[in-house]
Amino acid sequence: MPGPTTVPAGRARTLAQAYRHFGEVDAAGTSPLYERVAMALSESGEALRAIEAVPARKRHPTVILAALHDLALAGRAPALAAAYAAADGDAAAGAAIDTLLRMTDSVAAIAERRQARGDETGRCAVLYPAIAEAARRVGADGVGLIDVGCSAGLNLNVDRVGITYSSGQSLGDPSSAVQLSCSLVGDRPIPARAMPEVVARVGVDPDPVDVTDPDDARWLRACLWPDQPDQPERLARLEAEMALAAAAPPLLLRGDALEVLPGAFARVPADALPVVTTTWALSHFPLESRLRFLRRLGEAAAGRAVAWVSAEGVGVAPAIPTLGDRRASGHSIIGVAVFDRSAPRAEAVGRCWSKGRFLAWLAG
Ligand SMILES: C[S@@+](CC[C@H](N)C(=O)[O-])C[C@H]1O[C@@H](n2cnc3c(N)ncnc32)[C@H](O)[C@@H]1O
Repeated sequence: MPGPTTVPAGRARTLAQAYRHFGEVDAAGTSPLYERVAMALSESGEALRAIEAVPARKRHPTVILAALHDLALAGRAPALAAAYAAADGDAAAGAAIDTLLRMTDSVAAIAERRQARGDETGRCAVLYPAIAEAARRVGADGVGLIDVGCSAGLNLNVDRVGITYSSGQSLGDPSSAVQLSCSLVGDRPIPARAMPEVVARVGVDPDPVDVTDPDDARWLRACLWPDQPDQPERLARLEAEMALAAAAPPLLLRGDALEVLPGAFARVPADALPVVTTTWALSHFPLESRLRFLRRLGEAAAGRAVAWVSAEGVGVAPAIPTLGDRRASGHSIIGVAVFDRSAPRAEAVGRCWSKGRFLAWLAG
């Protein structure tokens, strides 16, 4: 049972610091509600002890705040929902602590079951030209997309969204309900080539999110912060993305990529090029698994050409050149690798920042 409202020493103090840091640094200036709630949690010994009911790897503020938001959206924490709707920070802080203490088991169950999800369709701005480039290198006129670490599989709609670059160039479907923008860095234009027809869409993840499932869809909404400055636009875009995905749901294969990949390749018709995509997924794999992932691509290429398009932190994607950039330097490298009967050919075709909002295209 909760004890006195003091912050105990040791691990709880570390947790208090994590929540205070989140409030003061991550949420400050972006989300007054999350700033206020995170600070209140950091100052409540009872709340911190309740958060300790959650496995250590799931105690991060983004997960716990999303779990509380999920309960609010589900109608199970009406006071918190009302405080968020009214943008009332004091009321939200009180209601968040109250919900956490009353529903500790539910918060813990959601946090344990779920992963905080990011804003994903921005990835399409970097994936589109890289997939088109991979298809050009192989001479493919049809591709089967296999997104590894797919989460909700939104990358698999890369050809169904419209993308406008700051150069004025555009790719994808200009009439799509999902329209993205991307700022180009440097003066090299992106290739104007359209990607070939997509004939298969397969997502691979140990814990895929199915946008046609109401609980899964609510979780994606819960991962948005309730009061970011552009919250209405973000929510509208997420709804449009989910509607697009729900209109033609991809095949989601649940499991470890190393085990599921052979089955995923089998779903791509023989006359199409399988293009495996990974966006900020491989850092979740131990190094040995990344190397085995690479070997799986090589094995699949024994019978047909295979391509891999990656957007991963510097040095995370094995075989993709780092361009001499420092690891953990805040940006990511876009890789295109082609596997066929000859030695794999891997190239860094660009750099990107903010998960695809900014892109520097490098390939000729
Ligand atoms: C940080 S998320 C990235 C999700 C998405 N690709 C994006 O760009 O936001 C990492 C994803 O990799 C998945 N993942 C972790 N281990 C995996 C594995 N062994 N095989 C396939 N996916 C895995 C996780 O479930 C999670 O959805």
